[in-house]
Amino acid sequence: MAEKSKILIIGGTGYIGKFLVAESARAGHPTFALVRESTLSHPEKSKIIESFKSSGVTLLYGDLYDHESLVKAIKQVDVVISAVSQQVPDQVNILAAIKEAGNIKRFLPSEFGFDVDRHHAVEPAGSVLDIKSKFRRTVEASGVPYTFVTSNAFAGYFLPTLGQQNVTAPPRDKVVILGDGNVKAIYVTEEDIGAYTIKAVDDPRTFNKILYLRPSANILTFNELVSLWEKKIGNTLEKIYVPEDQILKNIQDAPFPWNFLAAIAHSIHVKGDCTNFEIDPSFGVEASGLYPDVKYTTIDHYLNQFV
Ligand SMILES: NC(=O)c1ccc[n+]([C@@H]2O[C@H](COP(=O)([O-])OP(=O)(O)OC[C@H]3O[C@@H](n4cnc5c(N)ncnc54)[C@H](OP(=O)(O)O)[C@@H]3O)[C@@H](O)[C@H]2O)c1
Repeated sequence: MAEKSKILIIGGTGYIGKFLVAESARAGHPTFALVRESTLSHPEKSKIIESFKSSGVTLLYGDLYDHESLVKAIKQVDVVISAVSQQVPDQVNILAAIKEAGNIKRFLPSEFGFDVDRHHAVEPAGSVLDIKSKFRRTVEASGVPYTFVTSNAFAGYFLPTLGQQNVTAPPRDKVVILGDGNVKAIYVTEEDIGAYTIKAVDDPRTFNKILYLRPSANILTFNELVSLWEKKIGNTLEKIYVPEDQILKNIQDAPFPWNFLAAIAHSIHVKGDCTNFEIDPSFGVEASGLYPDVKYTTIDHYLNQFV
């Protein structure tokens, strides 16, 4: 059997990054996390770093803005996964280090959201997604082998509140539904995003392709999601539908970051940006089809924890 690739995760101490590190180690890949030395003393992050150590992850100290540290880290591995957030354009530093090191078989830049080439998000989210799209072009032009992971919505961001604002649990009396509630969205748990992403790194079928996470049981309209929740709690909720023109006005009036989050929600629930196009084999592959052995968590099951 071929040896498992050595994987470096940059941004491993972040929200999605820690799931990528955990799954890489669990799946038996020699796993390396690039960590900023200043993060070691951060109370919460230090716990994450301790969990890396106990899973056998090798910590490498470095920074996106320290070229030598990147090259040194990258030379030790076969695959680089980035899960940085605000620093998406500065991932050119990772690309430069990958080119200098000359040994990388696959680069997965920080994506983990919509297909940024096919979104209809309004401002202020639109231009942020466009930055990721522009970075795709830079990666493609670099000649570095890549996979772009379109994970769709993180389950942990949306489902614990059913997308309601200023609440800490899913609603039990009334629910605000964006648009007519009939647009299909896709939710994937963070663990499953980790599982599909790590499966993809050594797979020739994902070489220079977009990997779409579209597990069929997790493609639901807002109305279907609410109805699933209503069945679980044995109660019918009052439904407040917000028409698109009102949503757009709310986005304009809201301060940051609410306007950003609302623009993302509009793109998901009104524009249908998770599902409003077919995956053509010329540019993409679908993860649950490629990896049927990943027993993904369904939304139905996920919601049980909140009942
Ligand atoms: N689909 C969805 O629902 C969804 C939701 C949220 C985010 N996302 C996407 O997921 C991706 C990751 O976002 P996130 O929220 O997980 O990020 P995050 O929690 O903000 O984590 C960012 C990571 O980058 C690291 N980092 C920052 N500056 C660095 C530097 N100079 N050198 C090295 N590392 C540095 C951070 O390290 P420290 O720990 O040292 O700060 C942290 O590990 C983004 O592309 C984002 O757009 C998708």
